[in-house]
Amino acid sequence: MLDKLDALQQRASAALEALTDLAALEAWHAQYLSRRGELTQLLRSVGQLPPQERPGAGQRANELKTALEAAYERRQADLKRQARTQALTAERVDVTLPGRPPSLGRLHLSTQALRRIYAIFADMGFQVYRAPDVETDELNFELLNMPPHHPARDMWDTFYTTREGVLLRTHTSPGQIRAMRDYCPEPIRVILPGMCYRYEQVTARSEMMFHQVEGLAVGKHIAMTDLKGTMTEYAHRMFGEGRKMRFRSSHFPFTEPSVEVDMDCILCGGEGCRVCKYTGWLEIAGAGMVHPVVLRNGGYNPDVYSGFAFGMGVERPAMLSHSIDDIRYFFSNDVRFLEQFG
Ligand code: PHE
Repeated sequence: MLDKLDALQQRASAALEALTDLAALEAWHAQYLSRRGELTQLLRSVGQLPPQERPGAGQRANELKTALEAAYERRQADLKRQARTQALTAERVDVTLPGRPPSLGRLHLSTQALRRIYAIFADMGFQVYRAPDVETDELNFELLNMPPHHPARDMWDTFYTTREGVLLRTHTSPGQIRAMRDYCPEPIRVILPGMCYRYEQVTARSEMMFHQVEGLAVGKHIAMTDLKGTMTEYAHRMFGEGRKMRFRSSHFPFTEPSVEVDMDCILCGGEGCRVCKYTGWLEIAGAGMVHPVVLRNGGYNPDVYSGFAFGMGVERPAMLSHSIDDIRYFFSNDVRFLEQFG
């Protein structure tokens, strides 16, 4: 029995030395130390030895078991360390390689222009009032003094929904009615920014959708001169202190009197160029004193209250400031365009 144990010890130790990976180590463990392993079998057979040999053989077998288990654990630790070192060299990561910077988003050019406009009007006491893009015929036209069949509707042809009387707004002016009905009888000083839609041929000069900012002031003793001062202050802050202003008489069904607000051309300074069509002037807004019918539709008594309103585009002035020659870039979502601003 003792000889068998010696022989087993030699074979097992030699095999343990020779093996080089963890799979082989597990096979080794199964062969010698598992429940069916050779050493376990020998241990079991101790019971069949003559009684006087049992203690010696038992002790020797147990010592061998402890020794082999310890050797197994040492070898396992060695092999694991080796495997890790190998993996570290084979799968080396170059931590000095510069990372790939995530691309940063930025505000759309229209949003940037809108925010400049908000800031200027905020300084003059105007709050932002939100009104929906999907409107009713009643608010987009009728309450703005354009009954059905009114010829002025042709200037604001739009997209209709399948719901009778529901359309995409052609201007931000219907928001005037909403704001008035909301605030009446308080005085009002709001701007209404947002998208407008028109059934129009899309060209380099005109899109079927664009932003407008509407302005509305209602109160007692509001006069044309307030409108002129507000527009002048806006143009000076948006386009430069020295800008010259011109208020040209015009017509809108919802204002009386109505004007077009012009400023001297920022490209030629009034000399006349292609952009201002050789007039020296650029139109920046439509405006006027709120029509008595519109005031009444908003809930205000036109004998007591008066007000002014204006509506201006957002993309066209941004085109001028950034020398953009085609309005279609704004909504074609080409990042090469969008990345140039901000
Ligand atoms: N709503 C007009 C347009 O879209 C502009 C405007 C607004 C004119 C307010 C007068 C007063 O052309």
